[in-house]
Amino acid sequence: METTSRNKTLTLHDDEKSFSEEYVISVTKNTRRTDIENKIVCQSVFDTLDFLPNNFINLVFADPPYNIDKKFNDVVFKKMDIQSYEAYTEAWVSKLKSKLTHDASLYVCGDWRSSPALHTVLSRHFIVRNRITFEREKGRGAKTNYKNCSEDIFFCTNSNTYTFNVETVKLRKKVIAPYRENGKPKDWKHGFDGTSYRDTFPSNIWTDITIPFWSMKENTEHPTQKPEKLLAKILLASSNENDLVFDPFLGSGTTSVVAEKLNRRHVGIEIDRHYCLIAQKRLRQAKEDKRIQGYTDGVFWERNAGNNIKQ
Ligand SMILES: C[S@@+](CC[C@H](N)C(=O)[O-])C[C@H]1O[C@@H](n2cnc3c(N)ncnc32)[C@H](O)[C@@H]1O
Repeated sequence: METTSRNKTLTLHDDEKSFSEEYVISVTKNTRRTDIENKIVCQSVFDTLDFLPNNFINLVFADPPYNIDKKFNDVVFKKMDIQSYEAYTEAWVSKLKSKLTHDASLYVCGDWRSSPALHTVLSRHFIVRNRITFEREKGRGAKTNYKNCSEDIFFCTNSNTYTFNVETVKLRKKVIAPYRENGKPKDWKHGFDGTSYRDTFPSNIWTDITIPFWSMKENTEHPTQKPEKLLAKILLASSNENDLVFDPFLGSGTTSVVAEKLNRRHVGIEIDRHYCLIAQKRLRQAKEDKRIQGYTDGVFWERNAGNNIKQ
């Protein structure tokens, strides 16, 4: 695919269409953590999990195929009845459990069709602490139904001991009616251009997320790519530097890319060769360029806030 200068969608050049062992491996026997750290494993998660060491994952971000018909390059996922989707989810979640540290957290994505099965399976193995709903602006309108503009992310922990760095994921919002007490701003600050803002605690409704599109540098051809900003929130909240972040359905590589940018270690599994190549290219770039759109100077900005309220 040719791109215009405004279209920033990542493409692969001919010399980027092969794997480098530095990034992409396959796993066919029991491995040690050092064998797989910071690698993309290019094969099915179902053929991989048994070979991974126990107790090595601090944080999981899992974005499995949702329970809808979907083509991921050469991989076709077919909608199932809800019981079958529950069994599919149980198959990878149950294998993953022993790979997690005692204090690990797990985030699992779904939509309104998949969420009931996800909730059932996750609560069998973990403490389900919340369900984040994020607004996705993309989506087709429907004449006889409401357009689907939301996705769910279940937030679970392996035990009652877990990392939650709330201060790192506050959302900077403009204050519409700045209130003063004794002449001084109450819970808000002046931005450099005179705008008033407040850093607010994160809620379980995220409206500041933009799904990658063609003019964003992080955009790839993957049909269900998650935004780096979304991953940045999750990684900052639920892991610390050098922790190991694991993604069993890596897709275009977003989780590992953000882990690289935020100094976490990472392992991702992706079945499709072409997406592994895209992830490899993104990882190479992430070593040079640590910027994350929507997260600047340690601050998460409201959607489309620009930097006009930057101090
Ligand atoms: C919803 S997408 C993940 C997108 C990813 N979060 C991103 O930001 O690009 C699901 C991915 O799982 C992959 N997949 C499907 N079945 C798989 C399996 N058995 N093992 C590993 N990956 C699989 C698909 O090829 C697809 O790329």
